Amino acid sequence: MFKKEKTILCIGAGYVGGPTMAVIADKCPEYKVIVADINQERIDGWNSETLPIYEPGLESVVKRARGKNLFFTSDVFAAIKEASIIFVSVNTPTKTFGEGAGKAANLQYWEATARSIVEHSEDDKIVIEKSTLPVRTAEAMHRILQSNDKGLNFDVISNPEFMAEGTAIDDLNTPDRVLIGAMEDESGQIALQRIVDLYSCWVPKERIKTTNVWSSELSKLVANAMLAQRISSINSISAICEKTDANIVDVSEAIGLDSRIGAKFLKAGVGFGGSCFQKDILNLTYLCEYYNLPEVAKYWESVVDINNYQESRFVKRMIRKMFNTVAGKKVTLFGFAFKADTGDTREAPAKYISKMLLEEHAQLAISDPEALENAAKDLDGIEGDYELIKCPYEAAKGAHAIAIITEWNEFKDYDYKKIFDSMEKPAFIFDGRNILDHKKLYEIGFNVYPLGQQALSHLE
Ligand SMILES: NC(=O)c1ccc[n+]([C@@H]2O[C@H](COP(=O)([O-])OP(=O)(O)OC[C@H]3O[C@@H](n4cnc5c(N)ncnc54)[C@H](O)[C@@H]3O)[C@@H](O)[C@H]2O)c1
Repeated sequence: MFKKEKTILCIGAGYVGGPTMAVIADKCPEYKVIVADINQERIDGWNSETLPIYEPGLESVVKRARGKNLFFTSDVFAAIKEASIIFVSVNTPTKTFGEGAGKAANLQYWEATARSIVEHSEDDKIVIEKSTLPVRTAEAMHRILQSNDKGLNFDVISNPEFMAEGTAIDDLNTPDRVLIGAMEDESGQIALQRIVDLYSCWVPKERIKTTNVWSSELSKLVANAMLAQRISSINSISAICEKTDANIVDVSEAIGLDSRIGAKFLKAGVGFGGSCFQKDILNLTYLCEYYNLPEVAKYWESVVDINNYQESRFVKRMIRKMFNTVAGKKVTLFGFAFKADTGDTREAPAKYISKMLLEEHAQLAISDPEALENAAKDLDGIEGDYELIKCPYEAAKGAHAIAIITEWNEFKDYDYKKIFDSMEKPAFIFDGRNILDHKKLYEIGFNVYPLGQQALSHLE
């Protein structure tokens, strides 16, 4: 039997809740880990052979722990009663209504969860913010939790998640750091130690950083803002490269070799996506406005502006190079996921690129190894002529152009001679991720337009 103080619940079985809890269960066999969600379909997926999300390495971790000390349930209330440590990993999307619409975080799911915790608790709990939240949310949460009339004590801890989709299991197994923020009173510090003990099962002590709650909450927003800022910075430079015949790949390498800058997150592309970067920057922007720091807000907002610019710049270049019209032409997109090794399409550049091309009356064929199910949902209701085809050769047949939108490794290994032969001529490739062998494609006969590099064209 598992001890009460070693029974953990995570509310929210999504891209974060599922993998993080699977790894905790795998690494800490003396803890019982329950993952609960109101979405029955998701829970059924977690309990089945086909997990609800695609993530390299996830399946084997889940299979090792599931049924031993890892359990998935939709009975959130019973799980609240049972657990002593509760992680909350529900979604915190950008608000679409009312005050702060389009920028502030929508905290309704978080607050609903906090209220369920109060209502169904029968003893003291540690409640952990795993979701990304605005600074000082813990304060509001603490108020809601402490307002109970049962005499119960709740300690609120901030423990933001830094894993990235596509590499979640590696990131969780060997994190750069685990950040834990706690209130500075005695009870907060005792709770902090219990969470440090949990992570100490597998994370070296020097990688566990403890702070106050506010620094921890803010650090997560800032980490995402800084990462996205690097992408927007290099993407903005790719536009200059196309005008000046400088090569963005060389520029990235040259500046990345500077140890003060470093090589990561300097690959130019069609823009960043994912559920977090845009939402967290806008959230940071909103906070800056709230605290009357308009200059700071404007600075960070421009990171999102450049991202929008990069997506539309990519499409505009396609149209320009294809004789100023794509109307009635078949255009094939390789990739719909926001990055390689995930099926997640939230805020994926592919979505905006598809919309823009459909507005120009292109006929789209979209191929992706893992994301077509989500792509179908994203494009549902959008006007225009599009089809989702798993087989890349089918998708490219009769097309005027191929656009590489996601950096899936397997795109490099396709038989491009076979693809070229099946396409309309002149055949174009727009490599929005700079992953293909451009010279080879040019020799096959393609007109090749890498991003931020000189074109290899038989037409110009
Ligand atoms: N996706 C990432 O890569 C990532 C990385 C770090 C942090 N985060 C943050 O983690 C949080 C969760 O992100 P995600 O990608 O896992 O979201 P998600 O949408 O995949 O999962 C959230 C889950 O919470 C469930 N939920 C909502 N309200 C609930 C309630 N009242 N009770 C029970 N379950 C409820 C939903 O049904 C959903 O399954 C967000 O704040 C996000 O910003 C995400």
